[in-house]
Amino acid sequence: MLEWFRVSRNNSSPYFRDGMMQDLPQLESELLGAIDGARDLAALNEVRVSALGKKGRVTALMRGLGQMDAAERAQAGPAFNALKDKIAEAVESRRAALADAELDARLAQEKIDVTLPVRPEAQGHIHPVSQVTDELIAIFADMGFSVAEGPDIEDDFHNFTALNIPPEHPARQMHDTFYLAEGPDGERKVLRTHTSPVQIRHMMNTPPPHRIIAPGRTYRSDSDITHTPMFHQVEGLVIDKTTHMGHLKGCLEEFARAFFEVDDLRMRFRPSYFPFTEPSAEMDIGCERKDGELRIGVGEDWLEILGCGMVHPKVLDHVGIDPTEYQGFAFGMGIDRIAMLKYGIPDLRAFFESDLRWLRHYGFVPLDVPTLAQGLSR
Ligand code: DAH
Repeated sequence: MLEWFRVSRNNSSPYFRDGMMQDLPQLESELLGAIDGARDLAALNEVRVSALGKKGRVTALMRGLGQMDAAERAQAGPAFNALKDKIAEAVESRRAALADAELDARLAQEKIDVTLPVRPEAQGHIHPVSQVTDELIAIFADMGFSVAEGPDIEDDFHNFTALNIPPEHPARQMHDTFYLAEGPDGERKVLRTHTSPVQIRHMMNTPPPHRIIAPGRTYRSDSDITHTPMFHQVEGLVIDKTTHMGHLKGCLEEFARAFFEVDDLRMRFRPSYFPFTEPSAEMDIGCERKDGELRIGVGEDWLEILGCGMVHPKVLDHVGIDPTEYQGFAFGMGIDRIAMLKYGIPDLRAFFESDLRWLRHYGFVPLDVPTLAQGLSR
């Protein structure tokens, strides 16, 4: 159908190059061949520009139409247009194929085998506070405790009054409380100074019996080598009709042996005072201080690790539990402190400095979840 070009007489048309008439089918097959042979999108674009670009070969043909006479144009026009469309189509379908292939290649290259083991240097570490919290939960869960939570911002009633610490009580001064600005009701909320308010919330929200621990953040305006303004405590509470001081001792002794991983750990309970327990006690564990080092479970010295006691009848009254029917014990302990003791970490402030070198040294492997069966710390 395009053979007629061979007999065209219009020598001035760019359709003739170097005095030679172009063979349209040959141009077409040349361009289609180049399009097919383009290895990537960049090469394909070069072919496209060489054919359809401003100075492209097909564009030049189209431009030549203007110099043809009417009869020539009537035949050449549709033929050139058909060629142009065919080339454009071929470019487009090759572009789609190349784009698909490039995506496939990228997907193949970026494929991640999720069954491969983690590279050791890519591991994060579990902070000692999180580790010890998990250890505490493992130990107490094994004894039938569940975990309770409460808010960091507390009101005066839950943090103090319900715990038998009325206004003007000297214990309020001892807590170095952070107060928030006065609310619309004129009340100043506090950052909880201990986890004991969780006892109150739990007893008010659920009927007895109770057997919970409440680990969490606590706040006091205090800062030195053994104090930070934010620290962690764990609270314990057991309330039923028969629990007595013997259960308190047995439970906490069991805890201390499991936590410090010393079977013959020496322990003693000393009388103490807390407004929310009566009688109150502090628990010490056996240790040795030598050459500036502290060792748990050996030696003749004692180290205080927690406060505890039988829940005060006034506290039960505050939460609507009848103290003539129910009784039980509570305890509270500093998580950061027992983490320092167990893992020999000298300075509390480093806990909260986010120093990666510190975390790499004192941190724990994420997948070694503490369980009593496997050992708490490995
Ligand atoms: N709330 C006390 C504190 O922050 C710790 C404590 C002592 C909690 C004795 C108790 C307890 O539940 O019985 O110092």
